[in-house]
Amino acid sequence: MSTTLRKILVTCALPYANGPIHIGHMLEHIQADVWVRYQRMRGHEVWFVSSDDAHGTAVMLRSKDLGISEKQLIKYIQKEHKIDLMNFNISYDNYHNTHSIENLFLLRKIFSALNDKKLLHKKKIIQFYDNKEQIFLPDRFIKGTCPVCYSENQYGDICEVCGSIYEPIDLINSISAISGTPPILKETEHLYFNLPFFSNMLNKWIYSGVLENSIIKKTEEWLKSGLKTWCISRDAPYFGFKIPNFLNKYFYVWLDAPIGYISSFKNLCLKNKNLNFNEFWDINSKCELYHFIGKDIIYFHTLFWPSILEASSFRKPNGIFVHGHLTLNGLKLSKSRGSSIKASDWLKCFDSDSLRYYYASKLTNNINDIEINLDDFIYKINSDIVNKLVNLASRSASFINKYFNGYLSDRLDDYNLYESFVNATKKIEIFFENRKFSSIIRSSMKLLDIANQYINEKKPWMIQTKIEKNNTLHMICTTGINLFRIIMIFLKPILPVLSKKTELFLVSNLIWDDIKKPLLSQKIKDFPRLYERISSDKILKLLKLSK
Ligand code: MSP
Ligand code: ZN
Repeated sequence: MSTTLRKILVTCALPYANGPIHIGHMLEHIQADVWVRYQRMRGHEVWFVSSDDAHGTAVMLRSKDLGISEKQLIKYIQKEHKIDLMNFNISYDNYHNTHSIENLFLLRKIFSALNDKKLLHKKKIIQFYDNKEQIFLPDRFIKGTCPVCYSENQYGDICEVCGSIYEPIDLINSISAISGTPPILKETEHLYFNLPFFSNMLNKWIYSGVLENSIIKKTEEWLKSGLKTWCISRDAPYFGFKIPNFLNKYFYVWLDAPIGYISSFKNLCLKNKNLNFNEFWDINSKCELYHFIGKDIIYFHTLFWPSILEASSFRKPNGIFVHGHLTLNGLKLSKSRGSSIKASDWLKCFDSDSLRYYYASKLTNNINDIEINLDDFIYKINSDIVNKLVNLASRSASFINKYFNGYLSDRLDDYNLYESFVNATKKIEIFFENRKFSSIIRSSMKLLDIANQYINEKKPWMIQTKIEKNNTLHMICTTGINLFRIIMIFLKPILPVLSKKTELFLVSNLIWDDIKKPLLSQKIKDFPRLYERISSDKILKLLKLSK
Protein backbone atom coordinates (compact mmCIF):
# COMPACT_ATOMS: atom_id res chain seq x y z
CA MET A 1 0.00 0.00 0.00
CA SER A 2 1.38 3.38 -0.99
CA THR A 3 -0.26 5.53 1.69
CA THR A 4 0.94 5.49 5.29
CA LEU A 5 -1.35 3.65 7.63
CA ARG A 6 -3.40 5.72 10.03
CA LYS A 7 -5.03 4.98 13.38
CA ILE A 8 -8.42 6.60 13.47
CA LEU A 9 -11.20 6.87 16.05
CA VAL A 10 -14.59 7.91 14.71
CA THR A 11 -17.72 8.79 16.67
CA CYS A 12 -21.33 9.72 15.99
CA ALA A 13 -23.30 11.99 18.29
CA LEU A 14 -24.99 9.94 20.98
CA PRO A 15 -28.71 9.45 20.31
CA TYR A 16 -30.94 10.25 23.28
CA ALA A 17 -32.28 7.21 25.06
CA ASN A 18 -35.81 8.58 25.17
CA GLY A 19 -37.12 7.27 21.86
CA PRO A 20 -36.43 5.18 18.79
CA ILE A 21 -33.84 5.84 16.09
CA HIS A 22 -35.49 7.65 13.20
CA ILE A 23 -34.20 8.08 9.68
CA GLY A 24 -32.92 11.56 10.59
CA HIS A 25 -30.51 10.01 13.10
CA MET A 26 -29.70 7.40 10.50
CA LEU A 27 -28.36 10.06 8.13
CA GLU A 28 -25.48 10.62 10.55
CA HIS A 29 -24.77 6.95 11.28
CA ILE A 30 -24.80 6.15 7.57
CA GLN A 31 -22.57 9.10 6.70
CA ALA A 32 -20.02 8.09 9.33
CA ASP A 33 -20.27 4.40 8.49
CA VAL A 34 -19.58 4.98 4.79
CA TRP A 35 -16.49 6.98 5.71
CA VAL A 36 -15.35 4.36 8.22
CA ARG A 37 -15.86 1.47 5.79
CA TYR A 38 -13.90 3.36 3.14
CA GLN A 39 -10.98 4.01 5.51
CA ARG A 40 -10.97 0.36 6.54
CA MET A 41 -10.92 -0.69 2.88
CA ARG A 42 -7.80 1.43 2.48
CA GLY A 43 -6.15 -0.62 5.21
CA HIS A 44 -6.27 1.95 8.02
CA GLU A 45 -6.96 0.95 11.61
CA VAL A 46 -10.35 2.44 12.36
CA TRP A 47 -12.35 2.26 15.56
CA PHE A 48 -15.93 3.37 15.35
CA VAL A 49 -17.86 4.00 18.56
CA SER A 50 -21.00 5.65 19.81
CA SER A 51 -23.33 5.29 22.71
CA ASP A 52 -26.78 6.12 23.96
CA ASP A 53 -27.10 9.44 25.74
CA ALA A 54 -28.90 8.14 28.80
CA HIS A 55 -29.29 11.24 30.99
CA GLY A 56 -31.44 14.31 31.22
CA THR A 57 -34.97 15.46 31.84
CA ALA A 58 -36.41 13.92 28.67
CA VAL A 59 -35.37 10.42 29.72
CA MET A 60 -36.70 11.02 33.22
CA LEU A 61 -40.09 12.21 31.97
CA ARG A 62 -40.37 9.42 29.42
CA SER A 63 -39.79 6.72 32.02
CA LYS A 64 -42.33 8.42 34.28
CA ASP A 65 -44.85 8.32 31.41
CA LEU A 66 -44.21 4.64 30.87
CA GLY A 67 -44.30 3.83 34.57
CA ILE A 68 -40.88 2.22 34.58
CA SER A 69 -37.54 3.22 36.10
CA GLU A 70 -35.02 5.22 34.09
CA LYS A 71 -32.63 2.30 34.21
CA GLN A 72 -35.25 -0.04 32.74
CA LEU A 73 -36.02 2.47 30.02
CA ILE A 74 -32.42 3.06 28.96
CA LYS A 75 -31.67 -0.63 28.94
CA TYR A 76 -34.64 -1.35 26.70
CA ILE A 77 -33.92 1.60 24.41
CA GLN A 78 -30.25 0.72 24.04
CA LYS A 79 -31.20 -2.78 22.95
CA GLU A 80 -33.61 -1.35 20.39
CA HIS A 81 -31.11 1.22 19.11
CA LYS A 82 -28.46 -1.44 18.67
CA ILE A 83 -30.82 -3.58 16.60
CA ASP A 84 -31.77 -0.65 14.37
CA LEU A 85 -28.13 0.31 13.82
CA MET A 86 -27.14 -3.27 13.08
CA ASN A 87 -30.01 -3.65 10.60
CA PHE A 88 -28.61 -0.70 8.65
CA ASN A 89 -25.17 -2.30 8.78
CA ILE A 90 -23.61 0.49 10.82
CA SER A 91 -20.31 -1.16 11.64
CA TYR A 92 -19.76 0.01 15.22
CA ASP A 93 -16.99 -1.57 17.20
CA ASN A 94 -18.77 -0.51 20.34
CA TYR A 95 -22.11 1.01 21.25
CA HIS A 96 -22.23 1.92 24.91
CA ASN A 97 -24.40 3.98 27.22
CA THR A 98 -23.53 7.05 29.28
CA HIS A 99 -25.10 5.74 32.49
CA SER A 100 -22.08 3.47 32.80
CA ILE A 101 -19.23 2.86 35.19
CA GLU A 102 -16.69 4.05 32.63
CA ASN A 103 -18.55 7.29 32.06
CA LEU A 104 -18.93 7.97 35.75
CA PHE A 105 -15.23 7.30 36.31
CA LEU A 106 -14.18 9.67 33.52
CA LEU A 107 -16.67 12.33 34.56
CA ARG A 108 -15.27 12.30 38.10
CA LYS A 109 -11.73 12.48 36.78
CA ILE A 110 -12.61 15.46 34.58
CA PHE A 111 -14.58 17.09 37.39
CA SER A 112 -11.62 16.94 39.73
CA ALA A 113 -9.33 18.34 37.02
CA LEU A 114 -11.72 21.29 36.62
CA ASN A 115 -11.78 21.78 40.39
CA ASP A 116 -8.00 21.56 40.71
CA LYS A 117 -7.63 24.22 38.03
CA LYS A 118 -10.23 26.41 39.76
CA LEU A 119 -12.37 26.47 36.65
CA LEU A 120 -15.65 26.00 38.52
CA HIS A 121 -17.62 28.40 40.70
CA LYS A 122 -21.07 28.46 42.27
CA LYS A 123 -23.60 31.15 41.49
CA LYS A 124 -27.17 31.88 42.57
CA ILE A 125 -29.54 32.47 39.69
CA ILE A 126 -33.20 32.90 38.96
CA GLN A 127 -34.61 30.18 36.75
CA PHE A 128 -37.88 29.13 35.18
CA TYR A 129 -39.83 26.71 37.32
CA ASP A 130 -42.94 24.72 36.50
CA ASN A 131 -45.00 25.19 39.62
CA LYS A 132 -47.56 22.63 38.55
CA GLU A 133 -45.02 19.85 38.00
CA GLN A 134 -42.63 21.09 40.75
CA ILE A 135 -39.61 21.05 38.50
CA PHE A 136 -37.02 23.51 37.21
CA LEU A 137 -37.38 23.71 33.45
CA PRO A 138 -34.50 22.76 31.16
CA ASP A 139 -33.99 24.96 28.11
CA ARG A 140 -35.53 22.39 25.80
CA PHE A 141 -38.72 22.30 27.86
CA ILE A 142 -39.40 25.99 27.51
CA LYS A 143 -40.87 27.22 24.29
CA GLY A 144 -41.51 30.71 23.10
CA THR A 145 -40.74 33.37 20.53
CA CYS A 146 -37.10 34.01 19.55
CA PRO A 147 -35.98 37.39 20.97
CA VAL A 148 -33.81 38.03 17.92
CA CYS A 149 -35.83 37.05 14.82
CA TYR A 150 -39.25 36.66 16.48
CA SER A 151 -39.81 33.13 15.12
CA GLU A 152 -42.41 31.35 17.19
CA ASN A 153 -42.20 27.96 18.84
CA GLN A 154 -38.44 28.05 19.57
CA TYR A 155 -36.61 26.28 22.38
CA GLY A 156 -35.16 28.07 25.39
CA ASP A 157 -31.50 27.79 24.37
CA ILE A 158 -31.17 28.30 20.64
CA CYS A 159 -33.31 29.49 17.75
CA GLU A 160 -33.51 26.88 15.02
CA VAL A 161 -34.45 29.57 12.53
CA CYS A 162 -31.76 32.26 13.00
CA GLY A 163 -29.24 30.28 15.09
CA SER A 164 -29.07 32.79 17.95
CA ILE A 165 -28.10 31.49 21.36
CA TYR A 166 -29.82 33.10 24.33
CA GLU A 167 -31.01 32.55 27.88
CA PRO A 168 -34.49 31.02 28.31
CA ILE A 169 -35.42 34.11 30.25
CA ASP A 170 -35.00 36.16 27.07
CA LEU A 171 -37.66 34.15 25.22
CA ILE A 172 -40.88 36.02 24.55
CA ASN A 173 -44.17 34.52 25.81
CA SER A 174 -42.50 31.47 27.30
CA ILE A 175 -44.47 28.40 28.24
CA SER A 176 -43.59 25.10 29.96
CA ALA A 177 -43.60 22.25 27.50
CA ILE A 178 -44.27 19.82 30.36
CA SER A 179 -47.50 21.23 31.77
CA GLY A 180 -48.35 23.86 29.18
CA THR A 181 -48.55 26.52 31.89
CA PRO A 182 -46.49 29.72 31.94
CA PRO A 183 -43.46 29.13 34.17
CA ILE A 184 -42.64 31.16 37.28
CA LEU A 185 -39.21 32.45 38.32
CA LYS A 186 -37.43 30.84 41.25
CA GLU A 187 -33.98 31.16 42.81
CA THR A 188 -31.51 28.28 42.75
CA GLU A 189 -27.76 27.76 42.99
CA HIS A 190 -25.64 26.28 40.20
CA LEU A 191 -22.14 25.31 39.21
CA TYR A 192 -20.48 27.22 36.37
CA PHE A 193 -17.55 26.33 34.14
CA ASN A 194 -15.18 29.17 33.21
CA LEU A 195 -15.58 28.91 29.44
CA PRO A 196 -14.26 32.45 28.72
CA PHE A 197 -10.88 31.32 30.08
CA PHE A 198 -10.53 29.24 26.91
CA SER A 199 -11.29 32.01 24.40
CA ASN A 200 -7.67 32.34 23.29
CA MET A 201 -7.22 28.61 22.87
CA LEU A 202 -10.48 28.37 20.88
CA ASN A 203 -9.55 31.37 18.76
CA LYS A 204 -6.51 29.46 17.56
CA TRP A 205 -7.95 25.96 17.55
CA ILE A 206 -10.84 26.70 15.20
CA TYR A 207 -8.32 27.62 12.48
CA SER A 208 -6.23 24.47 12.91
CA GLY A 209 -7.98 22.59 10.11
CA VAL A 210 -10.61 20.89 12.25
CA LEU A 211 -13.59 22.75 10.82
CA GLU A 212 -15.06 23.50 7.41
CA ASN A 213 -15.26 27.22 6.63
CA SER A 214 -18.98 27.53 7.26
CA ILE A 215 -18.55 26.06 10.75
CA ILE A 216 -15.59 28.35 11.46
CA LYS A 217 -17.83 31.31 10.56
CA LYS A 218 -20.56 30.21 12.98
CA THR A 219 -18.08 29.60 15.77
CA GLU A 220 -16.35 32.92 15.09
CA GLU A 221 -19.67 34.68 15.62
CA TRP A 222 -20.11 33.05 19.01
CA LEU A 223 -16.54 33.87 19.99
CA LYS A 224 -16.87 37.46 18.84
CA SER A 225 -20.04 38.04 20.81
CA GLY A 226 -18.09 36.92 23.91
CA LEU A 227 -18.22 33.59 25.73
CA LYS A 228 -20.21 33.23 28.94
CA THR A 229 -19.62 30.85 31.83
CA TRP A 230 -21.41 27.55 31.25
CA CYS A 231 -23.85 26.06 33.76
CA ILE A 232 -22.99 22.38 34.27
CA SER A 233 -25.40 21.48 37.09
CA ARG A 234 -29.11 20.69 37.26
CA ASP A 235 -31.59 20.53 40.10
CA ALA A 236 -33.33 17.40 41.30
CA PRO A 237 -35.54 15.80 40.09
CA TYR A 238 -33.16 14.79 37.31
CA PHE A 239 -31.73 11.62 35.84
CA GLY A 240 -27.95 11.77 35.76
CA PHE A 241 -24.84 11.56 37.91
CA LYS A 242 -24.88 13.35 41.25
CA ILE A 243 -22.40 16.13 41.92
CA PRO A 244 -20.20 15.33 44.93
CA ASN A 245 -20.76 17.67 47.91
CA PHE A 246 -23.56 19.65 46.27
CA LEU A 247 -26.88 18.58 47.73
CA ASN A 248 -29.66 17.56 45.29
CA LYS A 249 -27.65 18.67 42.27
CA TYR A 250 -26.76 16.62 39.20
CA PHE A 251 -24.27 17.04 36.39
CA TYR A 252 -25.91 18.52 33.30
CA VAL A 253 -26.39 15.85 30.61
CA TRP A 254 -24.33 17.88 28.14
CA LEU A 255 -21.26 17.64 30.39
CA ASP A 256 -21.24 13.86 30.55
CA ALA A 257 -22.62 13.18 27.03
CA PRO A 258 -19.45 13.97 25.05
CA ILE A 259 -17.44 12.20 27.73
CA GLY A 260 -19.42 9.25 26.36
CA TYR A 261 -17.10 9.35 23.31
CA ILE A 262 -14.19 8.58 25.62
CA SER A 263 -16.04 6.13 27.85
CA SER A 264 -17.38 4.07 24.95
CA PHE A 265 -13.81 3.69 23.74
CA LYS A 266 -12.67 2.85 27.26
CA ASN A 267 -15.33 0.16 27.42
CA LEU A 268 -14.08 -1.17 24.07
CA CYS A 269 -10.54 -1.36 25.49
CA LEU A 270 -11.87 -3.64 28.24
CA LYS A 271 -13.18 -6.01 25.58
CA ASN A 272 -10.16 -5.75 23.30
CA LYS A 273 -6.92 -6.11 25.20
CA ASN A 274 -4.79 -5.10 22.20
CA LEU A 275 -6.18 -1.59 22.31
CA ASN A 276 -4.28 1.02 24.25
CA PHE A 277 -6.58 3.68 25.72
CA ASN A 278 -3.86 6.27 26.26
CA GLU A 279 -2.54 5.91 22.75
CA PHE A 280 -5.84 7.37 21.52
CA TRP A 281 -6.71 9.86 24.28
CA ASP A 282 -3.40 11.10 25.59
CA ILE A 283 -2.81 14.81 25.07
CA ASN A 284 0.03 13.95 22.66
CA SER A 285 -1.86 11.21 20.83
CA LYS A 286 -0.77 10.65 17.22
CA CYS A 287 -4.04 8.86 16.44
CA GLU A 288 -6.76 10.76 14.61
CA LEU A 289 -10.13 11.56 16.18
CA TYR A 290 -13.25 12.62 14.26
CA HIS A 291 -16.73 13.46 15.49
CA PHE A 292 -19.71 13.28 13.11
CA ILE A 293 -22.50 15.55 14.34
CA GLY A 294 -25.59 17.42 13.15
CA LYS A 295 -25.64 21.19 12.79
CA ASP A 296 -27.92 21.64 15.82
CA ILE A 297 -25.13 20.68 18.23
CA ILE A 298 -22.19 22.58 16.76
CA TYR A 299 -21.57 24.88 19.71
CA PHE A 300 -21.31 21.99 22.16
CA HIS A 301 -18.58 20.53 19.97
CA THR A 302 -16.66 23.63 18.89
CA LEU A 303 -16.77 25.57 22.18
CA PHE A 304 -17.50 23.44 25.27
CA TRP A 305 -15.99 20.13 24.24
CA PRO A 306 -12.50 21.33 23.20
CA SER A 307 -12.37 23.48 26.36
CA ILE A 308 -13.28 20.55 28.62
CA LEU A 309 -10.68 18.40 26.85
CA GLU A 310 -8.04 21.11 27.22
CA ALA A 311 -8.91 21.61 30.90
CA SER A 312 -8.64 17.91 31.67
CA SER A 313 -5.52 17.26 29.55
CA PHE A 314 -7.09 14.99 26.97
CA ARG A 315 -6.36 15.28 23.27
CA LYS A 316 -8.70 17.30 21.03
CA PRO A 317 -10.40 16.10 17.81
CA ASN A 318 -8.77 16.44 14.39
CA GLY A 319 -12.09 17.10 12.74
CA ILE A 320 -15.71 17.88 13.54
CA PHE A 321 -17.74 16.73 10.55
CA VAL A 322 -21.08 18.49 10.51
CA HIS A 323 -24.11 17.55 8.41
CA GLY A 324 -27.38 19.35 7.83
CA HIS A 325 -30.79 18.09 8.82
CA LEU A 326 -32.94 15.60 7.04
CA THR A 327 -36.19 17.24 6.13
CA LEU A 328 -39.49 15.84 4.95
CA ASN A 329 -41.64 18.37 3.10
CA GLY A 330 -39.23 21.05 4.25
CA LEU A 331 -39.52 20.29 7.98
CA LYS A 332 -36.76 18.88 10.18
CA LEU A 333 -37.57 15.31 11.03
CA SER A 334 -38.07 15.21 14.74
CA LYS A 335 -40.39 13.39 17.04
CA SER A 336 -41.08 16.41 19.21
CA ARG A 337 -42.19 18.30 16.10
CA GLY A 338 -44.50 15.52 15.00
CA SER A 339 -42.73 14.32 11.88
CA SER A 340 -40.64 11.22 12.02
CA ILE A 341 -40.06 7.93 10.26
CA LYS A 342 -38.67 5.23 12.51
CA ALA A 343 -35.67 3.31 11.19
CA SER A 344 -37.46 0.06 11.99
CA ASP A 345 -40.55 1.14 10.01
CA TRP A 346 -38.36 1.96 7.04
CA LEU A 347 -37.14 -1.63 6.97
CA LYS A 348 -40.70 -2.93 6.89
CA CYS A 349 -41.04 -1.25 3.48
CA PHE A 350 -37.59 -0.89 1.95
CA ASP A 351 -34.13 -2.39 2.33
CA SER A 352 -31.21 -0.79 4.17
CA ASP A 353 -28.88 -0.38 1.18
CA SER A 354 -31.48 1.74 -0.58
CA LEU A 355 -31.51 4.35 2.20
CA ARG A 356 -27.73 4.29 2.42
CA TYR A 357 -27.53 4.85 -1.32
CA TYR A 358 -30.11 7.61 -1.36
CA TYR A 359 -28.39 9.48 1.48
CA ALA A 360 -24.98 9.04 -0.13
CA SER A 361 -26.34 10.48 -3.36
CA LYS A 362 -27.23 13.66 -1.46
CA LEU A 363 -24.45 13.94 1.11
CA THR A 364 -21.46 16.19 0.79
CA ASN A 365 -19.20 18.05 3.20
CA ASN A 366 -21.52 20.99 3.81
CA ILE A 367 -24.37 21.64 6.23
CA ASN A 368 -27.20 22.12 3.75
CA ASP A 369 -30.36 20.35 4.80
CA ILE A 370 -31.20 17.19 2.91
CA GLU A 371 -34.75 16.90 1.68
CA ILE A 372 -36.06 13.39 1.39
CA ASN A 373 -38.61 12.91 -1.36
CA LEU A 374 -39.97 9.38 -1.52
CA ASP A 375 -40.94 9.46 -5.21
CA ASP A 376 -37.48 10.71 -6.09
CA PHE A 377 -36.06 7.98 -3.86
CA ILE A 378 -37.89 5.19 -5.72
CA TYR A 379 -36.91 6.65 -9.06
CA LYS A 380 -33.25 6.99 -8.14
CA ILE A 381 -32.89 3.48 -6.71
CA ASN A 382 -34.56 1.82 -9.67
CA SER A 383 -32.78 3.87 -12.28
CA ASP A 384 -29.29 3.75 -10.71
CA ILE A 385 -29.05 0.43 -8.91
CA VAL A 386 -31.40 -1.70 -10.99
CA ASN A 387 -31.24 -0.24 -14.50
CA LYS A 388 -27.60 0.80 -14.56
CA LEU A 389 -25.58 -1.14 -12.01
CA VAL A 390 -27.20 -4.55 -11.72
CA ASN A 391 -28.23 -4.55 -15.35
CA LEU A 392 -24.60 -4.26 -16.46
CA ALA A 393 -23.73 -7.38 -14.49
CA SER A 394 -26.83 -9.25 -15.51
CA ARG A 395 -26.50 -8.75 -19.27
CA SER A 396 -22.82 -9.73 -19.18
CA ALA A 397 -23.18 -12.67 -16.83
CA SER A 398 -25.97 -14.36 -18.76
CA PHE A 399 -23.60 -15.22 -21.66
CA ILE A 400 -20.75 -16.22 -19.37
CA ASN A 401 -23.04 -18.61 -17.56
CA LYS A 402 -24.77 -19.92 -20.64
CA TYR A 403 -21.93 -20.40 -23.11
CA PHE A 404 -18.72 -20.44 -21.12
CA ASN A 405 -19.58 -22.64 -18.20
CA GLY A 406 -19.30 -19.66 -15.88
CA TYR A 407 -15.64 -19.00 -16.70
CA LEU A 408 -14.33 -15.52 -17.45
CA SER A 409 -12.02 -15.15 -20.45
CA ASP A 410 -8.22 -14.80 -20.10
CA ARG A 411 -8.23 -11.37 -21.71
CA LEU A 412 -10.42 -8.29 -21.88
CA ASP A 413 -11.92 -7.05 -25.10
CA ASP A 414 -11.13 -3.39 -24.37
CA TYR A 415 -8.18 -2.59 -22.12
CA ASN A 416 -8.39 1.14 -22.79
CA LEU A 417 -11.91 1.23 -21.48
CA TYR A 418 -10.89 -0.74 -18.41
CA GLU A 419 -7.94 1.61 -17.86
CA SER A 420 -10.22 4.65 -18.07
CA PHE A 421 -12.31 3.21 -15.23
CA VAL A 422 -9.17 2.50 -13.18
CA ASN A 423 -8.09 6.08 -13.73
CA ALA A 424 -11.18 7.34 -11.89
CA THR A 425 -9.87 5.79 -8.67
CA LYS A 426 -7.77 8.79 -7.51
CA LYS A 427 -10.73 11.10 -7.88
CA ILE A 428 -13.02 8.72 -5.99
CA GLU A 429 -10.48 8.43 -3.17
CA ILE A 430 -10.39 12.20 -2.76
CA PHE A 431 -14.20 12.35 -2.75
CA PHE A 432 -14.38 9.69 -0.03
CA GLU A 433 -11.72 11.34 2.11
CA ASN A 434 -13.56 14.66 1.94
CA ARG A 435 -17.00 13.08 2.44
CA LYS A 436 -18.21 14.18 -1.01
CA PHE A 437 -20.34 11.09 -1.41
CA SER A 438 -22.75 12.63 -3.90
CA SER A 439 -19.81 13.15 -6.27
CA ILE A 440 -18.87 9.47 -5.95
CA ILE A 441 -22.37 8.45 -6.99
CA ARG A 442 -22.41 10.92 -9.84
CA SER A 443 -19.04 9.74 -11.19
CA SER A 444 -19.98 6.09 -10.79
CA MET A 445 -23.24 6.58 -12.68
CA LYS A 446 -21.41 8.34 -15.51
CA LEU A 447 -19.03 5.40 -15.77
CA LEU A 448 -21.94 2.96 -15.73
CA ASP A 449 -23.54 4.83 -18.62
CA ILE A 450 -20.30 4.41 -20.55
CA ALA A 451 -20.14 0.70 -19.67
CA ASN A 452 -23.74 0.07 -20.69
CA GLN A 453 -23.19 2.04 -23.85
CA TYR A 454 -20.20 -0.19 -24.63
CA ILE A 455 -22.36 -3.31 -24.30
CA ASN A 456 -25.09 -1.70 -26.42
CA GLU A 457 -22.61 -0.99 -29.15
CA LYS A 458 -20.95 -4.40 -29.06
CA LYS A 459 -24.35 -6.14 -29.11
CA PRO A 460 -23.15 -9.45 -27.68
CA TRP A 461 -26.58 -10.96 -28.34
CA MET A 462 -25.98 -10.51 -32.07
CA ILE A 463 -22.67 -12.30 -32.16
CA GLN A 464 -23.19 -15.57 -33.97
CA THR A 465 -19.98 -17.42 -33.49
CA LYS A 466 -18.79 -20.82 -32.46
CA ILE A 467 -18.74 -20.87 -28.70
CA GLU A 468 -15.10 -21.14 -27.85
CA LYS A 469 -12.93 -19.78 -25.12
CA ASN A 470 -11.66 -16.18 -25.51
CA ASN A 471 -13.70 -15.38 -28.56
CA THR A 472 -15.06 -11.85 -28.92
CA LEU A 473 -18.32 -12.59 -27.16
CA HIS A 474 -16.44 -14.05 -24.21
CA MET A 475 -14.10 -11.06 -23.93
CA ILE A 476 -16.86 -8.47 -24.27
CA CYS A 477 -18.86 -10.03 -21.46
CA THR A 478 -15.77 -10.41 -19.30
CA THR A 479 -15.08 -6.72 -19.86
CA GLY A 480 -18.64 -5.92 -18.79
CA ILE A 481 -18.24 -7.95 -15.60
CA ASN A 482 -14.96 -6.22 -14.83
CA LEU A 483 -16.35 -2.73 -15.31
CA PHE A 484 -19.21 -3.69 -12.99
CA ARG A 485 -16.65 -4.96 -10.50
CA ILE A 486 -14.73 -1.66 -10.42
CA ILE A 487 -17.92 0.29 -9.74
CA MET A 488 -18.88 -2.17 -7.01
CA ILE A 489 -15.49 -1.63 -5.34
CA PHE A 490 -16.14 2.13 -5.42
CA LEU A 491 -19.61 1.66 -3.98
CA LYS A 492 -18.77 -1.03 -1.43
CA PRO A 493 -18.66 1.36 1.58
CA ILE A 494 -22.12 2.61 0.60
CA LEU A 495 -23.80 -0.70 -0.32
CA PRO A 496 -22.65 -3.42 2.11
CA VAL A 497 -25.48 -5.87 1.35
CA LEU A 498 -25.18 -5.65 -2.42
CA SER A 499 -21.40 -5.88 -2.05
CA LYS A 500 -21.61 -9.09 -0.06
CA LYS A 501 -23.89 -10.63 -2.72
CA THR A 502 -21.55 -9.43 -5.45
CA GLU A 503 -18.55 -11.00 -3.73
CA LEU A 504 -20.37 -14.34 -3.59
CA PHE A 505 -21.36 -14.00 -7.23
CA LEU A 506 -17.85 -13.09 -8.40
CA VAL A 507 -16.25 -15.58 -6.00
CA SER A 508 -13.81 -12.81 -5.20
CA ASN A 509 -13.74 -10.07 -2.59
CA LEU A 510 -14.09 -6.44 -3.61
CA ILE A 511 -10.72 -5.02 -2.60
CA TRP A 512 -9.52 -1.48 -3.22
CA ASP A 513 -5.97 -2.45 -4.14
CA ASP A 514 -7.27 -4.96 -6.71
CA ILE A 515 -8.93 -2.33 -8.89
CA LYS A 516 -5.98 -2.24 -11.30
CA LYS A 517 -6.00 -5.98 -11.80
CA PRO A 518 -8.92 -7.36 -13.85
CA LEU A 519 -10.65 -10.54 -12.81
CA LEU A 520 -9.81 -13.13 -15.51
CA SER A 521 -10.04 -16.85 -16.22
CA GLN A 522 -11.81 -17.76 -13.03
CA LYS A 523 -15.25 -19.24 -12.57
CA ILE A 524 -18.09 -17.05 -11.32
CA LYS A 525 -21.43 -18.17 -9.93
CA ASP A 526 -24.76 -18.22 -11.75
CA PHE A 527 -26.18 -14.73 -11.79
CA PRO A 528 -28.12 -14.29 -8.53
CA ARG A 529 -30.92 -11.88 -7.77
CA LEU A 530 -28.65 -9.04 -6.73
CA TYR A 531 -31.29 -6.41 -6.18
CA GLU A 532 -35.05 -6.23 -6.57
CA ARG A 533 -36.76 -3.29 -8.24
CA ILE A 534 -38.66 -1.36 -5.55
CA SER A 535 -42.26 -0.39 -5.95
CA SER A 536 -43.91 2.90 -5.18
CA ASP A 537 -46.91 1.39 -3.37
CA LYS A 538 -44.55 0.89 -0.44
CA ILE A 539 -44.56 4.67 0.07
CA LEU A 540 -48.13 4.61 1.29
CA LYS A 541 -47.37 1.75 3.63
CA LEU A 542 -44.44 3.69 5.10
CA LEU A 543 -46.47 6.83 5.59
CA LYS A 544 -49.22 4.83 7.27
CA LEU A 545 -46.74 3.22 9.66
CA SER A 546 -45.27 6.61 10.50
CA LYS A 547 -48.51 8.28 11.50
N1 MSP B 1 -27.70 13.43 22.76
C1 MSP B 1 -27.36 14.54 21.95
C2 MSP B 1 -25.98 14.40 21.34
C3 MSP B 1 -24.87 14.24 22.35
S1 MSP B 1 -23.33 14.09 21.55
C4 MSP B 1 -22.21 14.16 22.77
C5 MSP B 1 -28.37 14.68 20.82
N2 MSP B 1 -29.13 13.58 20.57
S2 MSP B 1 -30.20 13.48 19.39
O1 MSP B 1 -30.75 12.16 19.48
O2 MSP B 1 -31.11 14.57 19.45
O3 MSP B 1 -29.41 13.64 18.06
C6 MSP B 1 -28.32 12.80 17.76
C7 MSP B 1 -27.71 13.20 16.43
O4 MSP B 1 -28.68 13.00 15.41
C8 MSP B 1 -27.29 14.67 16.36
O5 MSP B 1 -26.07 14.81 15.70
C9 MSP B 1 -28.40 15.30 15.57
O6 MSP B 1 -27.97 16.41 14.81
C10 MSP B 1 -28.77 14.16 14.64
N3 MSP B 1 -30.14 14.32 14.16
C11 MSP B 1 -31.31 14.32 14.87
N4 MSP B 1 -32.34 14.60 14.02
C12 MSP B 1 -31.85 14.79 12.78
C13 MSP B 1 -32.40 15.06 11.51
N5 MSP B 1 -33.69 15.23 11.31
N6 MSP B 1 -31.55 15.11 10.46
C14 MSP B 1 -30.20 14.88 10.59
N7 MSP B 1 -29.67 14.63 11.75
C15 MSP B 1 -30.45 14.64 12.87
O7 MSP B 1 -28.41 15.71 20.18
ZN1 ZN C 1 -34.41 33.49 15.85
